[in-house]
Amino acid sequence: MSAKKQNKNPAETIVEEEGEVSKVKLIPVYIMGKRYDVPEGLTIMKAMEYAGYKLIRGCGCRGGTCGACGTVYREPRDYKIQVSLACQKAVEPDMYIAQIPLFPASRAQYEFAELTSAPEEVFKLYPELFRCVACNACTKACPQGIEVMDAISALKQGNIAEVSRLSFDCIQCGLCTSRCFGELAQYHMFQLARRIYGAKIAPRANHLARMVESIDEGKYDKFLEELKKASEQELKRLYQERETEPMTAGEDWVPKDTGYL
Ligand code: FES
Repeated sequence: MSAKKQNKNPAETIVEEEGEVSKVKLIPVYIMGKRYDVPEGLTIMKAMEYAGYKLIRGCGCRGGTCGACGTVYREPRDYKIQVSLACQKAVEPDMYIAQIPLFPASRAQYEFAELTSAPEEVFKLYPELFRCVACNACTKACPQGIEVMDAISALKQGNIAEVSRLSFDCIQCGLCTSRCFGELAQYHMFQLARRIYGAKIAPRANHLARMVESIDEGKYDKFLEELKKASEQELKRLYQERETEPMTAGEDWVPKDTGYL
């Protein structure tokens, strides 16, 4: 059945959300080169599904955190290609859209345990790092607002800690790479840098090691047994009455009951 037969007014559609029925304006968009009329306000991902696409790749969390839904689009009367996450970007009239669920970037193979913390490890695995021309196209493409080019500069200087800090919010969508003149796979380099930092540079969490030791020694066995026997109501009471660390507590804060430390 055609859209015209379904709706008296082909410029709008009826939607029902949480029991509320409303009329929504339809806007034209071009998905993979074909025109579809979709409700305005939808994300690109939802608009594609409205148009009949069944997404089995290029779709994960739907919340902007998994990086699976890279999309490339162009707005009408604009020569510029833009990139975004399909689950975050809302459709606009006459937008041209294509999905890039995977950007075929080079990812180095390595035995992580054999790597040292020296930045030369990254240089050897990703020598193309030095092809960066500092154009900043990567930073402009990043949907996470990461200073990608600055992180690449830090990596060239061998500052693994700074790369880890700058790239912490990277979701591995690959959109930086899709726009890179130097053909760098920035997101793979950053991931390696963060792994090296976490495993081989960051200070060890000694308090955590001590706590694991205490658990292994059975310090909490009796308490855990009591919890396992407690009713749901009792568990809720204990949870609600527990002493929590105040938001403004300093480093020297300790709970009143230190029996479990
Ligand atoms: S689906 Fe996960 S970031 Fe879009």
